[in-house]
Amino acid sequence: MITLIRNGDVVDPVRETVEKVDVLVEKGKISKLLPPGVFKEKGPQIRIFDASDKFVIPGLVDIHVHLREPGHEYKETVASGARSAAAGGFTAIACMPNTEPPNDCRSVTEFILEQAERACSVRVYPIAAISKGQEGETLTNFGELKEAGAVAVSDDGFPVANSELMRRALEYAAFYGLRVISHCEDRSLAGDGVMHEGVISTRIGLAGIPAASEDIMVYREISLSRLTGCPVHIAHVSTAGSVELIRRAKEEGLLVTAETAPHYFTLDHQRVVGYDTLAKVNPPLRTSEDVEAVKEGLREGVIDVIATDHAPHSPLEKELEFDRAAFGMIGLQTALPLTLQLVRDGVLDLTEAVGKLSCAGANIIGVSGGCLIEGENADLSVIDPEYEYLFEADQILSKSRNSPFIGKRLKGVNELTMVGGKVVWEKER
Ligand code: DOR
Ligand code: ZN
Repeated sequence: MITLIRNGDVVDPVRETVEKVDVLVEKGKISKLLPPGVFKEKGPQIRIFDASDKFVIPGLVDIHVHLREPGHEYKETVASGARSAAAGGFTAIACMPNTEPPNDCRSVTEFILEQAERACSVRVYPIAAISKGQEGETLTNFGELKEAGAVAVSDDGFPVANSELMRRALEYAAFYGLRVISHCEDRSLAGDGVMHEGVISTRIGLAGIPAASEDIMVYREISLSRLTGCPVHIAHVSTAGSVELIRRAKEEGLLVTAETAPHYFTLDHQRVVGYDTLAKVNPPLRTSEDVEAVKEGLREGVIDVIATDHAPHSPLEKELEFDRAAFGMIGLQTALPLTLQLVRDGVLDLTEAVGKLSCAGANIIGVSGGCLIEGENADLSVIDPEYEYLFEADQILSKSRNSPFIGKRLKGVNELTMVGGKVVWEKER
């Protein structure tokens, strides 16, 4: 079987080009990239996908996803998360270890990989815990976890408070070629906060999480990276302060990389005014100045990656008083249109936007993907950036529906997702 993706504009974020090219897929690989019309064979063994007026992009790679398996399968399973990812244009996702039990040992990592294999959908890369039980006290066995298939380590959701432990984690992880992904939050300062600390939290009477609780830990990770000479990746940047600290660290030549999530460049703390728990997320939605700083960070390349922080929760955790509701929002099916908005707004060009959603993250966790070249795995998506639609709950393939974008008009959609030459998702036409 040969697949021909015909007449599309192929986006290559590595070469920074957009060119009309036919993509030929054979035996799971991109066998040929040809000028349009050169490949003329016809027949039952050739499947043709017409990508006229569409863009063919490298499959998106999301390095920050919460699948809830094992432990909270009613919110998400590896299979349901993978399906939602495929619908959103992702061909690979890396999943955070805050499951139950947490992914802190070989058997959990292997279990996740087995579930991913069974799901037959996108590639799933487990991220293991930094500390046993994510309790911040004893390091996990990085060598064993790497051998089992973990691609990075993180205590996302339960930030490492102990600086000495974080120092050892950076050194130990660098030895095994695993990237440390740090959820930067000083919990002693965040306290019982449930939204950004500022004029709005004061006005609506909710306890605040100051921007400084993030900035302090970003500064610590930068200092530890300088001390050890080891790389560190900063998760979900939400503050202007973090952007400035990372900018300076990069100017200094330190091995610091960073990601943000679409909600941090799309929404601000105003969204919390109606006490809608769909807007409750950690780190919290910040001020419009922070949103502008995050966009500027993306534009300048200070922020390398766009990751979703897809965090599924059921109505049991979300339909509660704001104080008691869980933090988190899903994001796999809205990341592409929200990022394309940055292109329309002139913040990023298309190749940069696609790069931040694909090869940039893949490089950080050291996996393949994010490029369209002959001989590589045929992991790709076909997108229509002009398609406008109302985003509705019944389009969501995640088991959870906790998106603040339900009922909003979005522009840009994924039409086809192929992983290793196999179509794992196709939009109804
Ligand atoms: O909003 C969040 N949700 N932030 C986190 O750090 C964890 C995540 C989750 O697991 O629900
Ligand atoms: Zn986090």
